[in-house]
Amino acid sequence: MKEGDADEIIVEALDLKTHFSANSGLLQAIFSANKQAVRALDGVNISIRERSVTGLVGESGCGKSTFGMTLVRMHEPTSGEIKFAGKPVTHITGAELKNYRGRAQIIFQDPYSSLNPRLTVGQLVEEPLLIHKIGDDAERAEKIARALGHVRLPAQEYLHRYPSDLSGGQRQRVAIARALVMEPSFIVADEPVSMLDVSVQAGVLELLETLSRQLGLAVLYISHDIATVGYICDRVGVMYLGKVVEEGPTLSVLNEPLHPYSERLLAAIPKVDTNATRNRVEMSGEVPSPLNVPPGCRFSTRCPHATDLCRTKEPELVEVKPDHSVRCHLY
Ligand SMILES: Nc1ncnc2c1ncn2[C@@H]1O[C@H](COP(=O)(O)OP(=O)(O)O)[C@@H](O)[C@H]1O
Ligand code: SF4
Ligand SMILES: [Mg+2]
Repeated sequence: MKEGDADEIIVEALDLKTHFSANSGLLQAIFSANKQAVRALDGVNISIRERSVTGLVGESGCGKSTFGMTLVRMHEPTSGEIKFAGKPVTHITGAELKNYRGRAQIIFQDPYSSLNPRLTVGQLVEEPLLIHKIGDDAERAEKIARALGHVRLPAQEYLHRYPSDLSGGQRQRVAIARALVMEPSFIVADEPVSMLDVSVQAGVLELLETLSRQLGLAVLYISHDIATVGYICDRVGVMYLGKVVEEGPTLSVLNEPLHPYSERLLAAIPKVDTNATRNRVEMSGEVPSPLNVPPGCRFSTRCPHATDLCRTKEPELVEVKPDHSVRCHLY
């Protein structure tokens, strides 16, 4: 990138929705007249810039993975648009889609099941290049060594090792190298440290942030744990039941949350740095099913401030502070 240029938007979601059919069973599909939709992702707008890490947080089941997988076109969106480097990729197919999948990579939570135990580290990192028919033997070897260098697993030491020789943190680094070897512009990291030992989590997160800066990558960091987004994210979106309910610069969202749901997520973080007993607010009730999204504000069934208006009219996303928006009738 030329110095002085503003970092460009790489990926954009515009009112993106992914609904699944609830009637997955064959008999149900045949006999059921009114097919219900699981509104897993229900209208999300997000812009992710190069050289930046954007966080997406929310409780389990709120649609984070569906969003990440839809962005990289592993799920077919029901409506809305995905733009990559300014061009729509929402419905591309064939060679165009294959090309996009090389440029937009995803890393999953479980480095134990995502790596084939019969392949060496070198073969694992080479696999995406072979699938995309990239380079000859020498070119691929160079790319593999570079990708392993980026994740700080020197090729001479790790190339011939098997996943079973590696710790969870090292396996997740191999998964990151498999993504990087394609020289992507965009990476979705879906709960990349949730299954790792706490002692290695910060190292892997810090690596993702460094890679984003060094390589100019746009990173979407997905987590159920709002405490971790402060480490690496420039911006954060808080997701509830398929929609982003608050979005802004990380410090602003974490220090001055606007949405009652964000307040609850933050209040639920155990405080370890003082002896003061914090008013620990437990999140009351369960996330409603995306098969049965409450009318009006989707948080109204759990919100202590809910009024009749909240139960009937869905709030719009409005900018309340500079660059910091919220979807709540209190504002
Ligand atoms: N392929 C699918 N078919 C039907 N429902 C799905 C599918 N994938 C996810 N869901 C449902 O969509 C909702 C959101 O799931 P998910 O995106 O995995 O949430 P999160 O990653 O935030 O935990 C959940 O209710 C889940 O059961
Ligand atoms: S719109 Fe109403 S129910 Fe929804 S979060 Fe705001 S106050 Fe609570
Ligand atoms: Mg998930």
